Formats: sequence, C-alpha cells, structure tokens
Amino acid sequence: MGPDPVPASDGGGGDPLAGRRVLVLISGSIAAVKLPLVVSALVQRGARVRCVLSPSAERLVSAVALASLSREPCRVEADQWSHQAPRPLHIELAEWAEVVLLAPLSATTLARWVHGLADTLLASTLIACEAPVLAAPAMNSAMWAAPAVRRNWKELQRWERVLPLEPGSGLLACDRVGDGRMAAPGVLLLALESLLLAGWGRDWQGRRLLVSAGPTREPLDRARCLTNPSTGRMGVLLAQAARLRGAAVDLVHGPLALDPDWLEGLQRWPVMTAAEMEAALQRLQGGADAIAMAAAVADHRRSAPEPGKLAKHDLEASLSSGWEPVPDLLAELVRRRPPGQAILGFAAQSGAVLEAARAKFARKGCDLLFANPIDRDGAGFAAASNEGWLLGPGARERRLASTGKLALAHRLLSALAEAVAFRSPDREPAGR
Ligand code: CTP
Repeated sequence: MGPDPVPASDGGGGDPLAGRRVLVLISGSIAAVKLPLVVSALVQRGARVRCVLSPSAERLVSAVALASLSREPCRVEADQWSHQAPRPLHIELAEWAEVVLLAPLSATTLARWVHGLADTLLASTLIACEAPVLAAPAMNSAMWAAPAVRRNWKELQRWERVLPLEPGSGLLACDRVGDGRMAAPGVLLLALESLLLAGWGRDWQGRRLLVSAGPTREPLDRARCLTNPSTGRMGVLLAQAARLRGAAVDLVHGPLALDPDWLEGLQRWPVMTAAEMEAALQRLQGGADAIAMAAAVADHRRSAPEPGKLAKHDLEASLSSGWEPVPDLLAELVRRRPPGQAILGFAAQSGAVLEAARAKFARKGCDLLFANPIDRDGAGFAAASNEGWLLGPGARERRLASTGKLALAHRLLSALAEAVAFRSPDREPAGR
C-alpha cells in the first residue's frame, strides 16, 4: 500500500517571525549584553527589528552594534525629541511595533511601566504601545525578592497583552547564585514565536501537563545500546508551549539532542531506559490533568544486559536471543488514568500513515493520536517541521499540513485543552 495523501512538506509552513515587526526595548541590566545576539537571530529569521536603549542600557551595550545587526537606527535617549521629527519618536515606534520584546526588564523600568511613568524614551514608548509585550526581567536576586519588585511583577501578571517570562536561577553578574537570571536567548526566541502563534492568552493556567520526550536507551552490554533517532524536539516544544500558556509542566525525557536553552524553566525528570520512564510516568500521572506521550520508547530490551563488554565475534550469537518486549507505556497510562485526565499519543509511521494510525488509535485508547510520517523529508525524527494526522473522539480525523514543530505543538495543545474540557467531570451536558 502506498503512502496516503498527507500534504507534502512546504518547508515548515513559513517562519512565524518572518516579516514581523519586532520592537526590542533594552533596559539597564547586565543581561543586556546578550541582546545583540538575539537581535541578530531575529534578523536572520526574517524579522524586521528596531531597538531602543534606556539611558542605563546605553552604558552596557553598543547602540552601534545593535544598529548594524538590526539594519535600522538604534534609538537612544538623546533621540527622543528632535526639531526635525514630524511626530514624537516614542509614538512612531509604539505604532510601528507588532510585538515588543522587553529584555532585560530592570527593576526601574518595571516600576516605571507599572506606575505609568513615561519619563524616558523607552518608558514612554512602552506605555504608548498597544502591541503585545514579552517581558523578561533580569536583576540581582535580592532586588528580585524585594517587596516593591514583587508587587510590581505581580501586578503585571494581571495585565492583558503581556507575556511575563519568569527569570531563572543561576550565577548572577554580582556573583550571587539565585533567582533573577534573564531567560536564555533561545527561550526569548521561543516565547516571541509563541506570542505570534498563540497570543498572550494563558488557557492552560491552573492545569498540569505531563510530557514525555526523546528516545529511551536500552543497554545491550557496557558499550552498546538499542535506541532510535528521536531528538526530543517535539516533546520539549510541547512542554515549553504549555508553560508559556500558563501550565505547570513535568517533562520526563530520555537523552536529548537539542538547544539546551530550550530546557530552561521546565521541571525535568531525566531517564535512560523505558523502565525508568515507566516509573517516572507512574509517579507523576496522578497529578496531571493531561499527558502528552511524545517519547519514542524502545519496543524491546535485553532480559539481562551483559555486565561487561561483549567481544565483536560473540555479538551476533549473543543478540539472537534474550530479548523481551517493553510494555506499552501509553496503553498503561490509559488503563490507570484518573477520571478527567486527557491523553495525547503519537505514532511514528512509514508508508500509509492514516490507516496504521487508525489501528493504533483503537489499540491504545488515548483521547487524541497524532500520527506523522518518518519516511519523508521535513517530518518525523529530528526535523524542524512536522505534518500528519490528528485523530480524535468521534472518529474525527484532521490532516495537519507541514508546519514548524512549535506551531504544531500549539495546535496539539489546543486540541488537548478541548479534550481536557470534554473529560472534565463538571462539564455541562451537551445541548445546553
Ligand atoms: N509507546 C509507549 N510504549 C512503548 C512504545 C510506544 O508508550 N513501548 C507510545 C509512544 O510514546 C507513542 C505511541 O506509543 O505515543 C506510539 O508509538 P509508536 O512507536 O508509533 O508505536 P508502537 O506502539 O511502538 O507500535 P509499532 O512499532 O508497531 O508502530
């Protein structure tokens, strides 16, 4: 049987950043030194970028470098009022922006913003701007913990159009180790992309999602293992997309091969074998409102792996027996699930995707199954994009055209949120 008509890859459905007008507002924290690389990455992905520096940021990062990297003038405090400008610069910039990246956000700029103090070019641009804002604070841990900063940050959580990105923990420029480290550049880019794909809504707020990602690795002996080409990209992007939409996320993952920035901010449970993954999933299942089983779990393992290293000439004889099947973790999760929990499974297929997916969906019993081809360019393991079929309740089958994996993650999350609402014990009966 030949492949069914899953649409051919169109190169990832286009980069969500391409052609978008991104206003980068940089305030005075030492993390400002990371912004030139972020601006460069945005421009390389086709975004149009304009930068504004606060007076303190001007002392930390070069306006010349930012102008050069963004291919636009970089605006500084002295530019705000000019007898040659027909309109105020802060209004021009605010109206130009489609989306704002406010990074790093200093304690002072946070206070100015929350209290409406428009006394610098950066603050007046921010206050005049009606576009959504991704806000990434960075400061010393004592400043971050100070009551005034906590109050201002809490206030910001209630605002519409704002995607607040909690700082992480780590070594700070002041030599302290603690909270206050700006989200890594890779996370800023993911969050910006998410904002453009899914808006600033926090529809997963108050819900917990359990995600599995990556391959498992089953030892054959001390030197060899059975594994597969999964990188963990789909599962990790699902976890990040859910976190950005407000979910609490547990990520159980095998060995990953992706940008380490993408792991930032996630509650992670690293494992190696299917048995370890099974134990972690069992432990975490009870607290989850939903599960996304994106891991590529091994199908077989050695009943008793060799304690040492097998010699090459003994390998073939030794591996011809002594295997056992790995239990189907997804089917187990479905069997044990508490009322109300919704489960998304994945299916890696070659050949006729849809037909095989139907059988797998029926066999596994999950609420949703996303089936993708692994024998085409631009889909499946390690690819930046993916395509396939989403099977759901009531024999609903949706064909999802090729798109970037973050865009796909958002679509799958929306479907999973619907499934959670559908399974909710206090759901209103149909027809009301
Ligand atoms: N899965 C699992 N436990 C396994 C194997 C797979 O939980 N031992 C899960 C995967 O995480 C995925 C789904 O089952 O969500 C389908 O995985 P896939 O590899 O496509 O299918 P298999 O069940 O392994 O079936 P087959 O190899 O016959 O395609």
